[in-house]
Formats: sequence, structure tokens, C-alpha cells
Amino acid sequence: MCGIFGYLGSKNSIKACLTGLKLLEYRGYDSAGIAAIKKGRLIQFKASGKIKALEKKINMKDLKLNLAIGHTRWATHGPAIEKNAHPHLDEKNSVAIVHNGIIENYNILKKSFKLKQTKFRSETDSEVIAQLFSINYKNDLVLATIETLKQLKGSLAIVAIHKDHPNEIIAAKRESPLAIGYDDKKTEFIISSDPNAFSGRNLNVIFLKNDEIAHIKNGDITVIDLKNNKILKTPQKLNSKNLTFSKKGFDHYLLKEIFDQPITVQKAFIDRLTENDEIEFENFNLDKKFLKSIDNIIITACGTSYHASLIAKTFLQEKAKIFISSEIASEMRFKNLIFTKNTLVIAISQSGETADTVAALKTAKENNAKTLAIVNVQNSTISRMCDSSIFLKAGLEVSVCSTKAFSSQITVLYLFAIYLARLKNMKKKESTSFLNELKTIPRKIKKTLKDFDLIHEKAKKYSQYENFFFLGRNLMYPTAMEAALKLKEISYLNANAYPAGEMKHGPLALIDSKLIVIAFCANKKTYDKMLSNLMEAKARNAQILAFATKKSYGIEDIADDVIWLEETSDELAIFPSTVASQLFAYFIAKIRKTDIDHPRNLAKTVTVE
Ligand code: G6P
Repeated sequence: MCGIFGYLGSKNSIKACLTGLKLLEYRGYDSAGIAAIKKGRLIQFKASGKIKALEKKINMKDLKLNLAIGHTRWATHGPAIEKNAHPHLDEKNSVAIVHNGIIENYNILKKSFKLKQTKFRSETDSEVIAQLFSINYKNDLVLATIETLKQLKGSLAIVAIHKDHPNEIIAAKRESPLAIGYDDKKTEFIISSDPNAFSGRNLNVIFLKNDEIAHIKNGDITVIDLKNNKILKTPQKLNSKNLTFSKKGFDHYLLKEIFDQPITVQKAFIDRLTENDEIEFENFNLDKKFLKSIDNIIITACGTSYHASLIAKTFLQEKAKIFISSEIASEMRFKNLIFTKNTLVIAISQSGETADTVAALKTAKENNAKTLAIVNVQNSTISRMCDSSIFLKAGLEVSVCSTKAFSSQITVLYLFAIYLARLKNMKKKESTSFLNELKTIPRKIKKTLKDFDLIHEKAKKYSQYENFFFLGRNLMYPTAMEAALKLKEISYLNANAYPAGEMKHGPLALIDSKLIVIAFCANKKTYDKMLSNLMEAKARNAQILAFATKKSYGIEDIADDVIWLEETSDELAIFPSTVASQLFAYFIAKIRKTDIDHPRNLAKTVTVE
């Protein structure tokens, strides 16, 4: 799993690896490692935890080397301890590999005739690659790679080096992504899980396809398939902007990103609305004739992006008047969904790299569906896979817990819904009041952020409790799901979301005076019913904190505490409610002293299925 990196060139390879790995750390931070070749021998450095821990272990003196590979891990097979950190070496210490993916037949291979005598040093699936490679190696790196790939099942992106080839590097890919960049003079070659790590460089970039192997040697790159045939690859020029990390004076990236939202939400719509409120998406190449003919849409995503899909589903269906389904990406390919020639599949992803969403998109493509990506990161796998993309323009989101990407996803999806509905049946004036109100949302988010101290006070009061129910109805139900996820992710508390009407069908049994109900009451359509559901919880001694709009009546008589929000229509209530709940989760995590930006066991982007 994770982020892999390789460097061969004129600069200090270890430094290049450390810099690259920091840019890939969002893919996992359980452990990190680097291997290089010094005086004909493989050397390696490993540390559990973040890249910073690895950096501390490396004394740069005498390490001006031209070749190195590196890895940042999100543990799948074997705990996050040093012996399981990559790179993995073979028994003879001749080859070192880094791997992203899962080798599904690793156990069978370990017991196989070829490897049964081998002494493995780690509990990982990945080590099997190094050991197999070593056995298959007969003085030719490419042939050894081909042979090894043929024996492996599962997903992989690997980079390998061999002690007898100090000026060569091998990269291969199956399912997990891999990009290779090089400068015009071919003095530097960089291999990376994704182009994020090319930050600030202008490079010629090749994206490997499944079962392609790249061999970099003598300042040149050759790409080969499993039959050892050369493949002609045309690189694309990629001028990547410098990724700058700054908390801008905030204590955490998470808080900075929560506060970014008045601007990021505005960026998601402002240049896409003309003076006459026409909607235009840049470089949008889904044919209008096709869009008019769409008879169903499948939206797929994971985590926070999935919650955005639930909100989009309701809105899109209501406006475009077609059937919309929202599918958790990791489940989608195991269902026999119905695809017609007029199906559109929308993949939502902040990173554009989530393996489950990539797999769901493959199912869509196998069924000849047209595909649209709603992503934040340009040039990401998902945006490259889809027929067209709409970017969030939210800027770099560093904190693992997603906040500003979510509000931008909703904004973009709302715009797309109106765009599609107008193509289909909606009169322009039917959407005028909605768009006018959307323009007020950045200001309403700002107002919510001003309640910083008040929300902090409420968080103090509730931070000592362990069990939370997040309740909502209609659009406030996915809002509650997203709010519960925030609290779970960064506070490690038991936070479950339910549609408030479902409480009586089971969850009420869990209610007592130690259970906190967080109630999302900002939808008018369901407000009265919501109050009844809260009364049912109160009758069983639950303590209630409500998020409600200023014009709500009666809630203060039921709830123990109310956080008052700006008045909005039901569709747009998601914004103030979400921002307030993000702050609430942030403060609880801060009081409980967790690693807010890098919560335990998680990764910003999960690149295994
Ligand atoms: C991980 C992150 C979540 C994110 C999810 C989907 O689990 O921790 O914050 O929502 O992946 O990521 P994506 O980049 O596809 O939106």
C-alpha cells in the first residue's frame, strides 16, 4: 500500500527521496524507508511513524548517491513496525523493492517450491516480490521483472534496484498507479505513485499501463511488456506547481481548511456562473446531446466523498427528474447494476486516487458508461480515466479529515445538477432563486465560523462523553453522517449517524443519560417530525445538542444546547450545519489531544481495495 518513489539522476538521490516521500505521505504514515546503493552494496534506512522519524535516522554525510528508492506505508499485512517497513530486500541483500498494492497470492508463493526455503524477515505480502525477483534474476533486470510479474497476483506498483546495477532502476505497474517523470536533457528520472511528488518541476511524464515495465539505464527509458516487446510511449509535458504546505498561523491544517471554506466554496462556483447565470464548466467535453438523453446516473465514491454523493443524489433527482443511485465504490463492482447506453457514472474524489473508486470506474467503463469525475487533484488517476472532469478548485487539502473538499463537492454537484436539469427540462428562472442564494453561502459560512468560541464551549461540555448519535432527516441525514465521520476520525469516539425516524426501530434501546444526541434540525421540510423524534430521545434521558436555524421555534425547549445557524433553504442548509459540526469535532479532538491532522490508522488516500 502506500506511496512509492524512485530517483536516478544528477542530484542527491536520498534528499530527492525524502522530499518526494513527504509529498506522498498523504497515502500513509505508518512507517517509511529508503534504500540506495553505496560502493556495490545495498544500504537502507527505516523508521516506524512519519517521514520526519526516518529523516532523523539518516546522516547525509557521505550519502551523495545518484540512485535511491523510498516508501511511505499504510499497513495492510503486518503491523506498523520497523521490520515491516519498505524497502524489502531479498535474502542475499542484492535487490531492494518498494511496493504499493496487495499481492493476493503471497501466502501461496511463500509456501511454493521456489520460496519454501527462504527466510522472510517481515510479515508483509510485499517481501515476496523481492525474494522472487532474486530467484528469477539471471544477470538481466528486465527478464527477472517479467518472470516475477507473471508469478504475482493482485495489485502492484513497484520500483526495484539491484546492487550490481548502480545506474539502473526498474518500475512496473498492475492496477496501482505509477508515473515516471524526466527532464528534457534526461539527467534526472523520477518515479512516483502520482505526479504530486513532481511538485514544482517541469517534466516529461509517462504513465505506465497495466503490466508495463520501465527500465531506466544510461540516461534513457525503455518501456517493455510482459512479452519483452518494446512499447512506444509518448510523454506528456507536466508543469506542476510547487505544493506549498502552510498552516497560515492556525494550530492545525484541519482548522485552516475549515476556515478556507468561504473562499473555496466561492471558487467552486464563481467563474462558472456568467453574468446571466448561465453555467459553464471549463474544458467540459460531455456532449450536450448525450447529457439530454441521460436516463440514469450512478454516483460512486468513498468516505466523505460518498456523503457528498448522497446529498447530490437527492438534489439531482429532484431537479433533473431522472433516477439517480449513489453507490459506495468498494461495493459497486460486486453488484449487477443496470447500465444503459444513456447511463452517466459520476465518480467523486478529493484525491482522484482512491483505489475503490478507481475499481468502480473500471466497472462503469466495462459497461460502456460515460464517466464524469468530480475531483480536486488535477492529473489524478480518476480524472485521467473519465471522459470529462470538473475540478473542485479547493486547493491542497492536507488534513486527512476532509472538510473543504466536501463543501466544494456539494457546490460543484449542485451546479452540475442545475446545468443538467436546464438541458433536460428546467426553465432558467426556476433556478434563479437557488443560484442567488448559493452566492450568499460564503458569507453564511463566515458567520458560522464567527461562532468559534461558542462552539468551543459546547465541545468542552460534551468532550468527556464516549457515545454519540448524530441524527437528521432528509438532507440533514447525510449531513449527520458526515458530521459523525468527522468526530470518529479525529476524536476516536463512538459516533453513529441515523435517520432520526429510524431510532424507534432499534437504536433507541441504546439511549441513556450518558448518550449524547447531536441533532441536525436545519431542514424545514422535516423539522416538526425531527422535533418529535428528539422528544422520544429526551423521554429516555438523552442529552441533546441541536444545530438549528435562527428562525426555528421550539427546539430550545427540547435540546440542552442549541447552536444557532444562519437561515437558508433546505438544500443549502448543509453548508452552515456542516461547518459548525466540523468545528465541534475539531475542538473535541483538540481537548482529547489526538493527532488531529494525522489520525491513527488512517490515510488521506487509500490506494488498496
Ligand atoms: C480516505 C480519507 C477520507 C476520504 C476518503 C475518500 O478514507 O481519509 O477523508 O473521504 O479516503 O477519498 P477521496 O480522495 O476519494 O475523496
